[in-house]
Amino acid sequence: MDNVVNVGLLGAGTVGGGVILVLEKNAADIEKKVGMPVRITKILERNPQLAVELGQKYQITDKIEDILEDPDLDIVVELIGREHPAKEFIAEALRHGKNVVTANKDVLAKHGKELFELASQNQVDFMFEASVGGGIPIIRPLKSCLAANKITSVMGIVNGTTNYMLTKMSAEHLDFADVLKEAQDKGYAESDPTADIGGLDAARKIAILASIAFNTRVVLEDVHVEGIENLTLRDIDYANELGYVVKLLAIAKRDEKDGISVRVHPTMLPSDHPLAKVNDVYNAVYVTGDAVGDTMFFGRGAGRMPTASAVCGDIVDVARNIRHGSTGRISCTCYDEKHLCTIENITSPCYIRLHVHDKPGVLAGIAAAFGAQNVSLKNVVQKAKVNGFSELVVITYDVSEFNLRMAIQTLRALPIVEKICSVIRVEDDNLD
Ligand code: HSE
Repeated sequence: MDNVVNVGLLGAGTVGGGVILVLEKNAADIEKKVGMPVRITKILERNPQLAVELGQKYQITDKIEDILEDPDLDIVVELIGREHPAKEFIAEALRHGKNVVTANKDVLAKHGKELFELASQNQVDFMFEASVGGGIPIIRPLKSCLAANKITSVMGIVNGTTNYMLTKMSAEHLDFADVLKEAQDKGYAESDPTADIGGLDAARKIAILASIAFNTRVVLEDVHVEGIENLTLRDIDYANELGYVVKLLAIAKRDEKDGISVRVHPTMLPSDHPLAKVNDVYNAVYVTGDAVGDTMFFGRGAGRMPTASAVCGDIVDVARNIRHGSTGRISCTCYDEKHLCTIENITSPCYIRLHVHDKPGVLAGIAAAFGAQNVSLKNVVQKAKVNGFSELVVITYDVSEFNLRMAIQTLRALPIVEKICSVIRVEDDNLD
């Protein structure tokens, strides 16, 4: 064993630059914590300007082989992002016996199984704390601190862009299009914000969290995904009036039969729920375990320094394992194959907004249509008139997705119903 831990960095962009800063600034403390120095020795960077700047202090290369085949490098840190060639670089690094640290949710949510197997075969560490929730510690707490629990539920606000937008819509009564433009102007939303708005970014993250929480491999395709693109200010305002807030929640739950469901969709949460108070670009993950009860992990879910904090925490952990000859100690934890429930089988209370003709017997007809599908109603509130129709807001008790869809289909066919405007699921223990 060398008396220094050598790191090869793939990508010195936003997060990579943050990692360089943290490892330089806190080098003395990190050396004491690990018991030997941890230093970046080689960087793969293809941006010529960055390469020249960094070249004054570090060895820069534009060839991945220079990193993979360097026998002195102990840890490869992948911060290139996206699926390819990051996945191939990670796989090759593991095959070459390198420990790997990554922030790459795209790769993890799709290729986790293959990469963990490679890590295991090569007895090396494969760590990815920054892939979910940026700087928030959540992967290691699930894998270590909460490892003795049976986890029953993981619910997260894991996309900062959409949380910023929903917070703005609610607080300032702004329309979706206006807040999207503001999020883009501020640099929160990407110029192509589809993955954020459409829920895919959150889906990748909950696939990763569910795999760990339930010890069962969950990939992106297993996640039911709905984004916030159809949410209206009207529904957000009505939700607030009823004592709820609307959040894009990523939800992974274990049911009584030990099956699991994993989904991302707009969700109405009671305004006193801890997640309801997570606003702006902040993220939070709410985990319930049989021994620990409810816990919440909160913080900055993106950004250069918070993400670098998580990456560097992983580097320190790997370095400690290297020092003590214990790399590969915590490998893949997906030893189980729990049944994945389809969305039709999940149950939750629901909010439905609809326009109906204003005449006697309408409310009885609506209640009968719900009743025929076994949907029990908590509230039916008549709101203002819209274009000559009465606007109704209905909150149901717990209902299966299948029964809800049947009820909506029945309602749509009723002559007294002009249109079903929106359906939003509710997470409220009082309505179970
Ligand atoms: N686009 C993500 C977000 C950050 O808005 O939270 C990167 O995961």
